Amino acid sequence: MSLSVIILAAGKGTRMKSARPKVIHPLAGKPMLQHVVDTSRKLEPEQILLVIGHEAGLVRDIMQDQDLLFVEQNEQLGTGHAVMQCNEQLTAGNDILVLYGDVPLISDLTLEEMIKQGQDNVVCLLSFYAANPTGYGRIIRDDSNHVTAIVEDKDASDKQREINECNSGIIFIKGSEYQQLLADIDNDNAQQEYYLTDVVKHAVTRSHPVTAVLSNDEQEVLGVNNQQQLAQLEHIYRLRRAEELMRAGAKLADPQRIDIRGNVRVGQDVSIDVNCVLEGEIELGDGVEIGPNCVLINSSVASGSQVHAMSIIENAEIGERNSIGPFARIRPDSITLDNARIGNFVEVKKSVIGQGSKVNHLSYIGDTEMGADVNIGAGTITCNYDGAYKHKTIIEDDVFVGSDSQLVAPVTISKSSTIGAGSTITKNTPENQLSFSRAKQVSFKNWQRPRKKKD
Ligand code: UD1
Ligand code: CA
Repeated sequence: MSLSVIILAAGKGTRMKSARPKVIHPLAGKPMLQHVVDTSRKLEPEQILLVIGHEAGLVRDIMQDQDLLFVEQNEQLGTGHAVMQCNEQLTAGNDILVLYGDVPLISDLTLEEMIKQGQDNVVCLLSFYAANPTGYGRIIRDDSNHVTAIVEDKDASDKQREINECNSGIIFIKGSEYQQLLADIDNDNAQQEYYLTDVVKHAVTRSHPVTAVLSNDEQEVLGVNNQQQLAQLEHIYRLRRAEELMRAGAKLADPQRIDIRGNVRVGQDVSIDVNCVLEGEIELGDGVEIGPNCVLINSSVASGSQVHAMSIIENAEIGERNSIGPFARIRPDSITLDNARIGNFVEVKKSVIGQGSKVNHLSYIGDTEMGADVNIGAGTITCNYDGAYKHKTIIEDDVFVGSDSQLVAPVTISKSSTIGAGSTITKNTPENQLSFSRAKQVSFKNWQRPRKKKD
């Protein structure tokens, strides 16, 4: 049977105290709603519907181009009402799985189990045990332990409030009975809301089997209502990713002090020191060592390379056996080939650093194609921008650039040429020759330094 996933995301999230709707607040670098969408995809549903309301335009913009169906709920009259708004766009007869946009850690394995058990029943809900169940809907079971209803906290009797088995809100409803069960929902309750949870009691009234999957991971059902809870989920997410990395063989100096906001693949014997942030798609080859306080975004570091403390690498590919940093900044579209060295206070942008080439100190290399075995002296700047356009610098194999030189692009430094220190190079240099462009040194014998007059 085909599946339709409905993700509820219409609420404002008042307690976030934010101008932005709750579900777009980032968790581990992406909107929390995106986590729910990504997990839903793993179930291969026929359609994913997003129920949006508060700041709907903004949520739409952020979630666009992902083959999602948007359903607007202009007034938030309850979870049942939210789901009713989907009727027009739902494929008739599909099984329904309802998720919350503010419960981002839910695992696809749990959802799969719910769908599986849902097949032999009509309704399958996801419950969990809470030490403090206040605020949650409670799961009511009969003498033979069958689920008979969900009672909201505000509607519950004192006796029912003592129940610790709570409703996560996530629910599966079989396509064949869905329309009828939904039509049964009214708003005759303490909050005068249309409760989706009422499908349980209506199913029971109609003699349809209802079951519950009990989540054995209390963290996956956690919802975000305020900044504290968001930080708590960020912490959980971070620890989980750190544990995954260690299971994959990485040595983490302190699993409490690493921020993983994406997918990290590691080879053997990778080590990562404290306070690193790894974002997006990251690949670290065998034996890679990452020093403390580094930021890596959508980048790869090939085997045997070291990234020293305080370095930032974004959208770049680092070759094998490189030494990067400390304090290096490798900006997007940069590639370093094997055995390259990028030292401290060096910025590299949209450039290729050739095999065995070295840029060791205080340089800016931008829009540059560098060959092999080049040595760039301290303080060398490629002047790639004329105020309107960017131009390229070509530095061929075996070039030696003296310290404090400026290479004004477009310019080619030909093979094996040498640039004298302190030069401003505006013309292509010939192969194998020394080129420099500085004034001759002169000395003034009787020159006096200006001095302050004494009174
Ligand atoms: C709901 C459940 C409760 C469960 C709890 C778990 C109902 C009636 N109650 O209660 O049993 O224990 O979640 O957190 O379902 N939403 C909309 N439109 C609406 C109302 C809600 O999109 O009209 C969205 C919210 O943005 C939120 C989710 O649905 O993402 C849950 O809504 P919320 O108001 O937090 O439900 P609770 O009252 O906490
Ligand atoms: Ca809630």
